[in-house]
Amino acid sequence: MQARYDIAILGGGVIGLALARALALAPKTPALAVIDASSRIPPATLAAAGMLTPSFEDALGGDALYDLGAASLDMWPAFAASLVEETGADIDFRGDGVFGVAVDAAGAQKLDAQYEALTGRGVDVALMTGAEARALEPALSDRIAAALHAPRDAQVDPVKLFAALRLSLERRGASLIDDHVAAAERQSDGWRVTLGEGGGVVADQIVVATGAASGWVIDGVPRPPVFPVKGEAFSIAAPPAPASVTRVIRGPGAYVCPKAGGRIVIGATEQEGRDDLAVSAAGIESLRNGAAEIVPALQNCAEIARWAGLRPATPDGAPILGVALRGARGAWLALGHHRNGVLLAPASAAALATEILGEKPAIDLAPFRPDRFG
Ligand code: GLY
Repeated sequence: MQARYDIAILGGGVIGLALARALALAPKTPALAVIDASSRIPPATLAAAGMLTPSFEDALGGDALYDLGAASLDMWPAFAASLVEETGADIDFRGDGVFGVAVDAAGAQKLDAQYEALTGRGVDVALMTGAEARALEPALSDRIAAALHAPRDAQVDPVKLFAALRLSLERRGASLIDDHVAAAERQSDGWRVTLGEGGGVVADQIVVATGAASGWVIDGVPRPPVFPVKGEAFSIAAPPAPASVTRVIRGPGAYVCPKAGGRIVIGATEQEGRDDLAVSAAGIESLRNGAAEIVPALQNCAEIARWAGLRPATPDGAPILGVALRGARGAWLALGHHRNGVLLAPASAAALATEILGEKPAIDLAPFRPDRFG
């Protein structure tokens, strides 16, 4: 006899976990399973730096993606506080702002364009000279020509977030099933989800949140256009103050994210068409040089770890959120969050959970529908 659930979420990265938690918080909690392959195939979440920065990732993109990111940034403080209060976990959420910095005239022009786009949207951001930025972050290089300060952008530790979401779900009675999906077939009594290591579950509805994982095994649902964009990153031991920075700094060659415990995460390369997790010496060296260009004291700091992950990208850079098959045996997609899975998790999860539970979400998901690609 296979275990039976109301909803099975295929994929245990930040999107699948946040969606499961949003469903678990509903007044009438559905019976939930999360099929979680993270012990075999690390999700992009565990490779992320955890920047919550719509002002930089999406400022020059389309309005819909920017608006989703901004809505999610607005949700982050309450989302973090609720998770921390419930689990007692420290997820290192910091709403202390983010700097984008330029080291030449072309970079400064790009920051000007971002400033115009953001202020046009009513966002509170400030353009600064290098000296003004250094007054706030004295470890910045004196090569910095201009800076854009987004005081409301934020960051979190994705590895701690991942653990806290799992703990919350365990406590709320969701089944976290450590396996991958071999097949999902739509039958008269529900979806039969066959697991890679044998056995399976039955669920009335499924949500596919498998990120950039290769292989598509969902009966009757065409494979959406999600493809991996590999990213390499590494962490270092932060130099003692004042040689280190306290906020996220985004430069032309790398971003620098100071984390709790004297660690700094530096990322990330972008390689389309690669689906392996090998980390290249050349990739790490270019990131190290990119970090040192904006914060010179980082040049020789001891490395702690290096890793790679696969961002789940889409042709237009926006996620795919919505129903793939309607009805009592529905299938939903929560895919393609590309560079912004951690940022978008609260908004994507809340909106999609509301739809799955049969109500109209406060956030308009029309621009993110699966059928927009034809
Ligand atoms: N969001 C940062 C990255 O994807 O590298």
